[in-house]
Amino acid sequence: MRKTASTLALACGIAAGLAAVAAHARSDNMQRMQQFKTTGTSLDIPTVAQDPAKVAQLKKNLEAVKLPPGFRIGVYAIVPDARFLVALLAALAWCGAADAADPAAGKQKARMCQVCHGLDGIARLPEAPNLAGESTLYLERQLKAFRAGERKSPQMSVVAQALSDADIANLAAWYSSIEITAKMPK
Ligand code: HEC
Repeated sequence: MRKTASTLALACGIAAGLAAVAAHARSDNMQRMQQFKTTGTSLDIPTVAQDPAKVAQLKKNLEAVKLPPGFRIGVYAIVPDARFLVALLAALAWCGAADAADPAAGKQKARMCQVCHGLDGIARLPEAPNLAGESTLYLERQLKAFRAGERKSPQMSVVAQALSDADIANLAAWYSSIEITAKMPK
């Protein structure tokens, strides 16, 4: 019982990692990851045979796992105990979330936003907010809220209808990747 649970947890984490491998980790995330502490668990890890039947069963189990948008799941390897990879899982899942989206595609799409928010995310209209440097979490949540009608605005309720989940992820990636600096008044 315990074994199944740990291999499953491992497979999930690893898969989130796979999504991340292709892409580029955000440097602030990397910094946070470097601060992760070790548990002191022995690194004398026994190897485990990669039984194809077992892998197939794990893949089947994974179909039942629900993930937030941007995450992929799959089996990478069977290992003796998920504890050995817990830190890695946390780190990889983090990258996976940030990296599923494509900021370059978001920049293209942002042409339909630029009259109001600017391509650089600095608003061109007094009633439109700046988007530059805003978190992907917040941007995605707002765009989905506009699209679903949970948040209403004469402009955004219309604009958001044209956006797919991928558009939203890419736009959020674009605007959040713009670096801003704040200067407080004296
Ligand atoms: C015609 C002008 C206009 C266009 C085009 C437009 N927006 Fe907006 N957007 C606004 C206004 C105005 C608001 C403020 C809505 C409110 O008052 O709630 C807003 C709000 C937002 C917010 C919420 C920000 C916050 O701080 O809560 C996001 C995110 C956003 N827009 C993204 C976009 C994206 C992405 C596009 C292009 C796909 C886009 N907008 C196109 C005018 C526009």
